[in-house]
Amino acid sequence: MNELFSVKRKVVVITGGTGVLGGVIAEHLAKEGANVVVLGRRKEAGEKLISKIKEEGNEAVFLQSDVLDRESLLKNRADILEKYGKIDALINAAGGNMPGATITPTGTFFDLNLDDFDKVLRLNLTGTVLPTQIFLEPIVKQGEGSIINISSMAAFRPMTRVPGYAAAKAGISNFTQYMAHEIALKFGEGIRVNAIAPGFFITEQNRSLLTNPDGSYTERGNDVIRQTPFKRFGRPEELCGTAQYLISDAASFVTGTVAVVDGGFNTFAM
Ligand SMILES: NC(=O)c1ccc[n+]([C@@H]2O[C@H](COP(=O)([O-])OP(=O)(O)OC[C@H]3O[C@@H](n4cnc5c(N)ncnc54)[C@H](O)[C@@H]3O)[C@@H](O)[C@H]2O)c1
Repeated sequence: MNELFSVKRKVVVITGGTGVLGGVIAEHLAKEGANVVVLGRRKEAGEKLISKIKEEGNEAVFLQSDVLDRESLLKNRADILEKYGKIDALINAAGGNMPGATITPTGTFFDLNLDDFDKVLRLNLTGTVLPTQIFLEPIVKQGEGSIINISSMAAFRPMTRVPGYAAAKAGISNFTQYMAHEIALKFGEGIRVNAIAPGFFITEQNRSLLTNPDGSYTERGNDVIRQTPFKRFGRPEELCGTAQYLISDAASFVTGTVAVVDGGFNTFAM
């Protein structure tokens, strides 16, 4: 059997694993034989996901966590090392937007709520930097591992109406490249840092921006489809292969990349 893309017995920590995209990736990696650790704030959602994974005969644990709380992350790290003795990969999938950091169709830039803007920057960007700082330490001791950050199409071009989210995601792409370089220089080639930039996948955080209550697309939803050559939104499972690849030995010479999974959205010209 070809082991090139194997993640078997790798300990994979997923922040925001209780969310739609993180959850689907968690389920997939567990199916592929990884020991998945789902971190999230919502205990009920986390436990529901773990039961589902276990019913399928695979391994996963849920630990309550907050990506902005150093103490909770340190406790998570200690619990993971006690249970598995190592961490092989971290997927920073916690993130999202906030209404106050979004300009409404009739509003202007002057309506931007600076508190919400700060919160969105902190959740997405600091909420990626801090868990990386905490979970990278044992990875550095091992000399081997993979970090995956979650960027966005908004990192490539600042999308209308979501200035906080776009700035945070641009920061994540930039941080990914910075870390790839920094870690390789100081600790060698065993540790890789990459990002995935998903196109548009309908989940709780963007449902109301992209769809109406009756399921039809909003004007913005239609704009996205018009600019996506595949003429549809992504299915969360379509991120799983890229995540697995970036963790596996198949990506042993890949670091500092932002892998686009978007049905062609980022190629749109006219
Ligand atoms: N859905 C899309 O189209 C899309 C596109 C590009 C990027 N993304 C990114 O993908 C990631 C996952 O998004 P999703 O669509 O699955 O959304 P989601 O809202 O379903 O998942 C986000 C998860 O993060 C968790 N979270 C929020 N604050 C947290 C905190 N302080 N500590 C720990 N967890 C926290 C939430 O509880 C939730 O479980 C996010 O970074 C998002 O920005 C999504």
